[in-house]
Amino acid sequence: MDYFNVAILGCGTVGSGVAKILIDMPEELAVRAGKKIQLVKIVDLYPKKAAANYQIPMQLFCGGGKDLLRDEATRCIDEIIADPNIHLVVETIGGTSDYLYGIMHRILSAGKHLVTANKAMLAEKGGELFRLARQKNVLLGYEASVCGAIPIIKTIRESFTGDKILEISGILNGTSNYILSKMQHEGLDFPTALKNAQEAGYAEADPTLDINGGDAAHKLTILIRLAFGANIDYFSLYKEGIDQISREDIDFANEMDCSIKLICYARQMDGKIFAAVKPMMVKNDNFLSKVNGATNCVEVKNLYSGKHYFVGKGAGSLETASSVVSDIVFAAKYQGMAISMPDLKDFELVEAGSIVLPYNITFTTEDRPGITGLVTTAIGAQNINIDTVSHNRHNKDKAYFSVVTMPCTLNQVKQAIDQIKQKAPGLLLEEPKIIPILY
Ligand code: HSE
Repeated sequence: MDYFNVAILGCGTVGSGVAKILIDMPEELAVRAGKKIQLVKIVDLYPKKAAANYQIPMQLFCGGGKDLLRDEATRCIDEIIADPNIHLVVETIGGTSDYLYGIMHRILSAGKHLVTANKAMLAEKGGELFRLARQKNVLLGYEASVCGAIPIIKTIRESFTGDKILEISGILNGTSNYILSKMQHEGLDFPTALKNAQEAGYAEADPTLDINGGDAAHKLTILIRLAFGANIDYFSLYKEGIDQISREDIDFANEMDCSIKLICYARQMDGKIFAAVKPMMVKNDNFLSKVNGATNCVEVKNLYSGKHYFVGKGAGSLETASSVVSDIVFAAKYQGMAISMPDLKDFELVEAGSIVLPYNITFTTEDRPGITGLVTTAIGAQNINIDTVSHNRHNKDKAYFSVVTMPCTLNQVKQAIDQIKQKAPGLLLEEPKIIPILY
């Protein structure tokens, strides 16, 4: 039986999981791949720490298990790229540095398959890497980059080729979903729920990309390219995180029989792509409202086969590693025919302000007569049809209330708010919160 030799760069949470799976089940993998998949080299600056969780043998590490200086690690990586007996490299270092981009480029240029969990690199700078993989006829595998363990990439790439994808939506960031679930079901405020997520090991020590929508937008960018063959600019994608969601917002959502979720959404529209990452109030009879905790869910709506839901673990060591290993098996089995990403055409994004949706607008105002009338008049003046106005909550000298609109554009809502500010400066004590409603 032929051998298929693999090296791993970066043996952290995911990389060490990949090593464990490759070491644990060689027979099964060989049957599936038709080749013996051998882990031959690991590069990590701190092997003892990297190996600790899964007792990975020290002799697999470049340097035999001693800590490496950065230059020594770079030399090891150079040796791997130059070694004709290594067929595939797993990149689980992470980040978008030019240094790492250079390494990934050189791996593909050398005609080796590359498997990565690095959504940020692929979303922000992936175009040339995918082009190079096609040119060299090697796999650039990225199943693990979108929603960890959920097999959404191969499903879209292999299983939905007999259909046409109309829409993709879902909950693509587990940390935000964990925080929002804690706020909704246990009454926590945002800072406490975030601390809780960090203690539970979901949020990163620096959770910025998790809570500002960046991580979800990386994943959505990759899905849009794959599902629609559409090259969009990650940096132009409309994204908002959950950092501004307050207890009042959650309470208003509960009152409306909704759950607030960080929703990713994309569809083709008039030759453009409409896509956004935004907190939404999801009606509680919508399936996405029932996805709680750190769980991810991708919803795909197809022309012929209808709606599909993919629910599972979006992060975790062995969970994400299982997706990396599935790409290794794929490359070993189909090498030479391994298409990573279709040819992409450049697509413009629809301007987010022109999208028509129902909105919930929460106002924090002075507490005096005439305010509700003034606010609703300004909304009506923008030709927005109001659905409901909530009761006022009074807290010291402040009032809180929310207005639910019939479908209208975000631009109309923003114009109404500008008009309120012009007509009654100082009436709005905080910037109104505008949250779309998903039925
Ligand atoms: N930090 C991500 C999440 C997983 O919370 O979903 C990796 O993208």
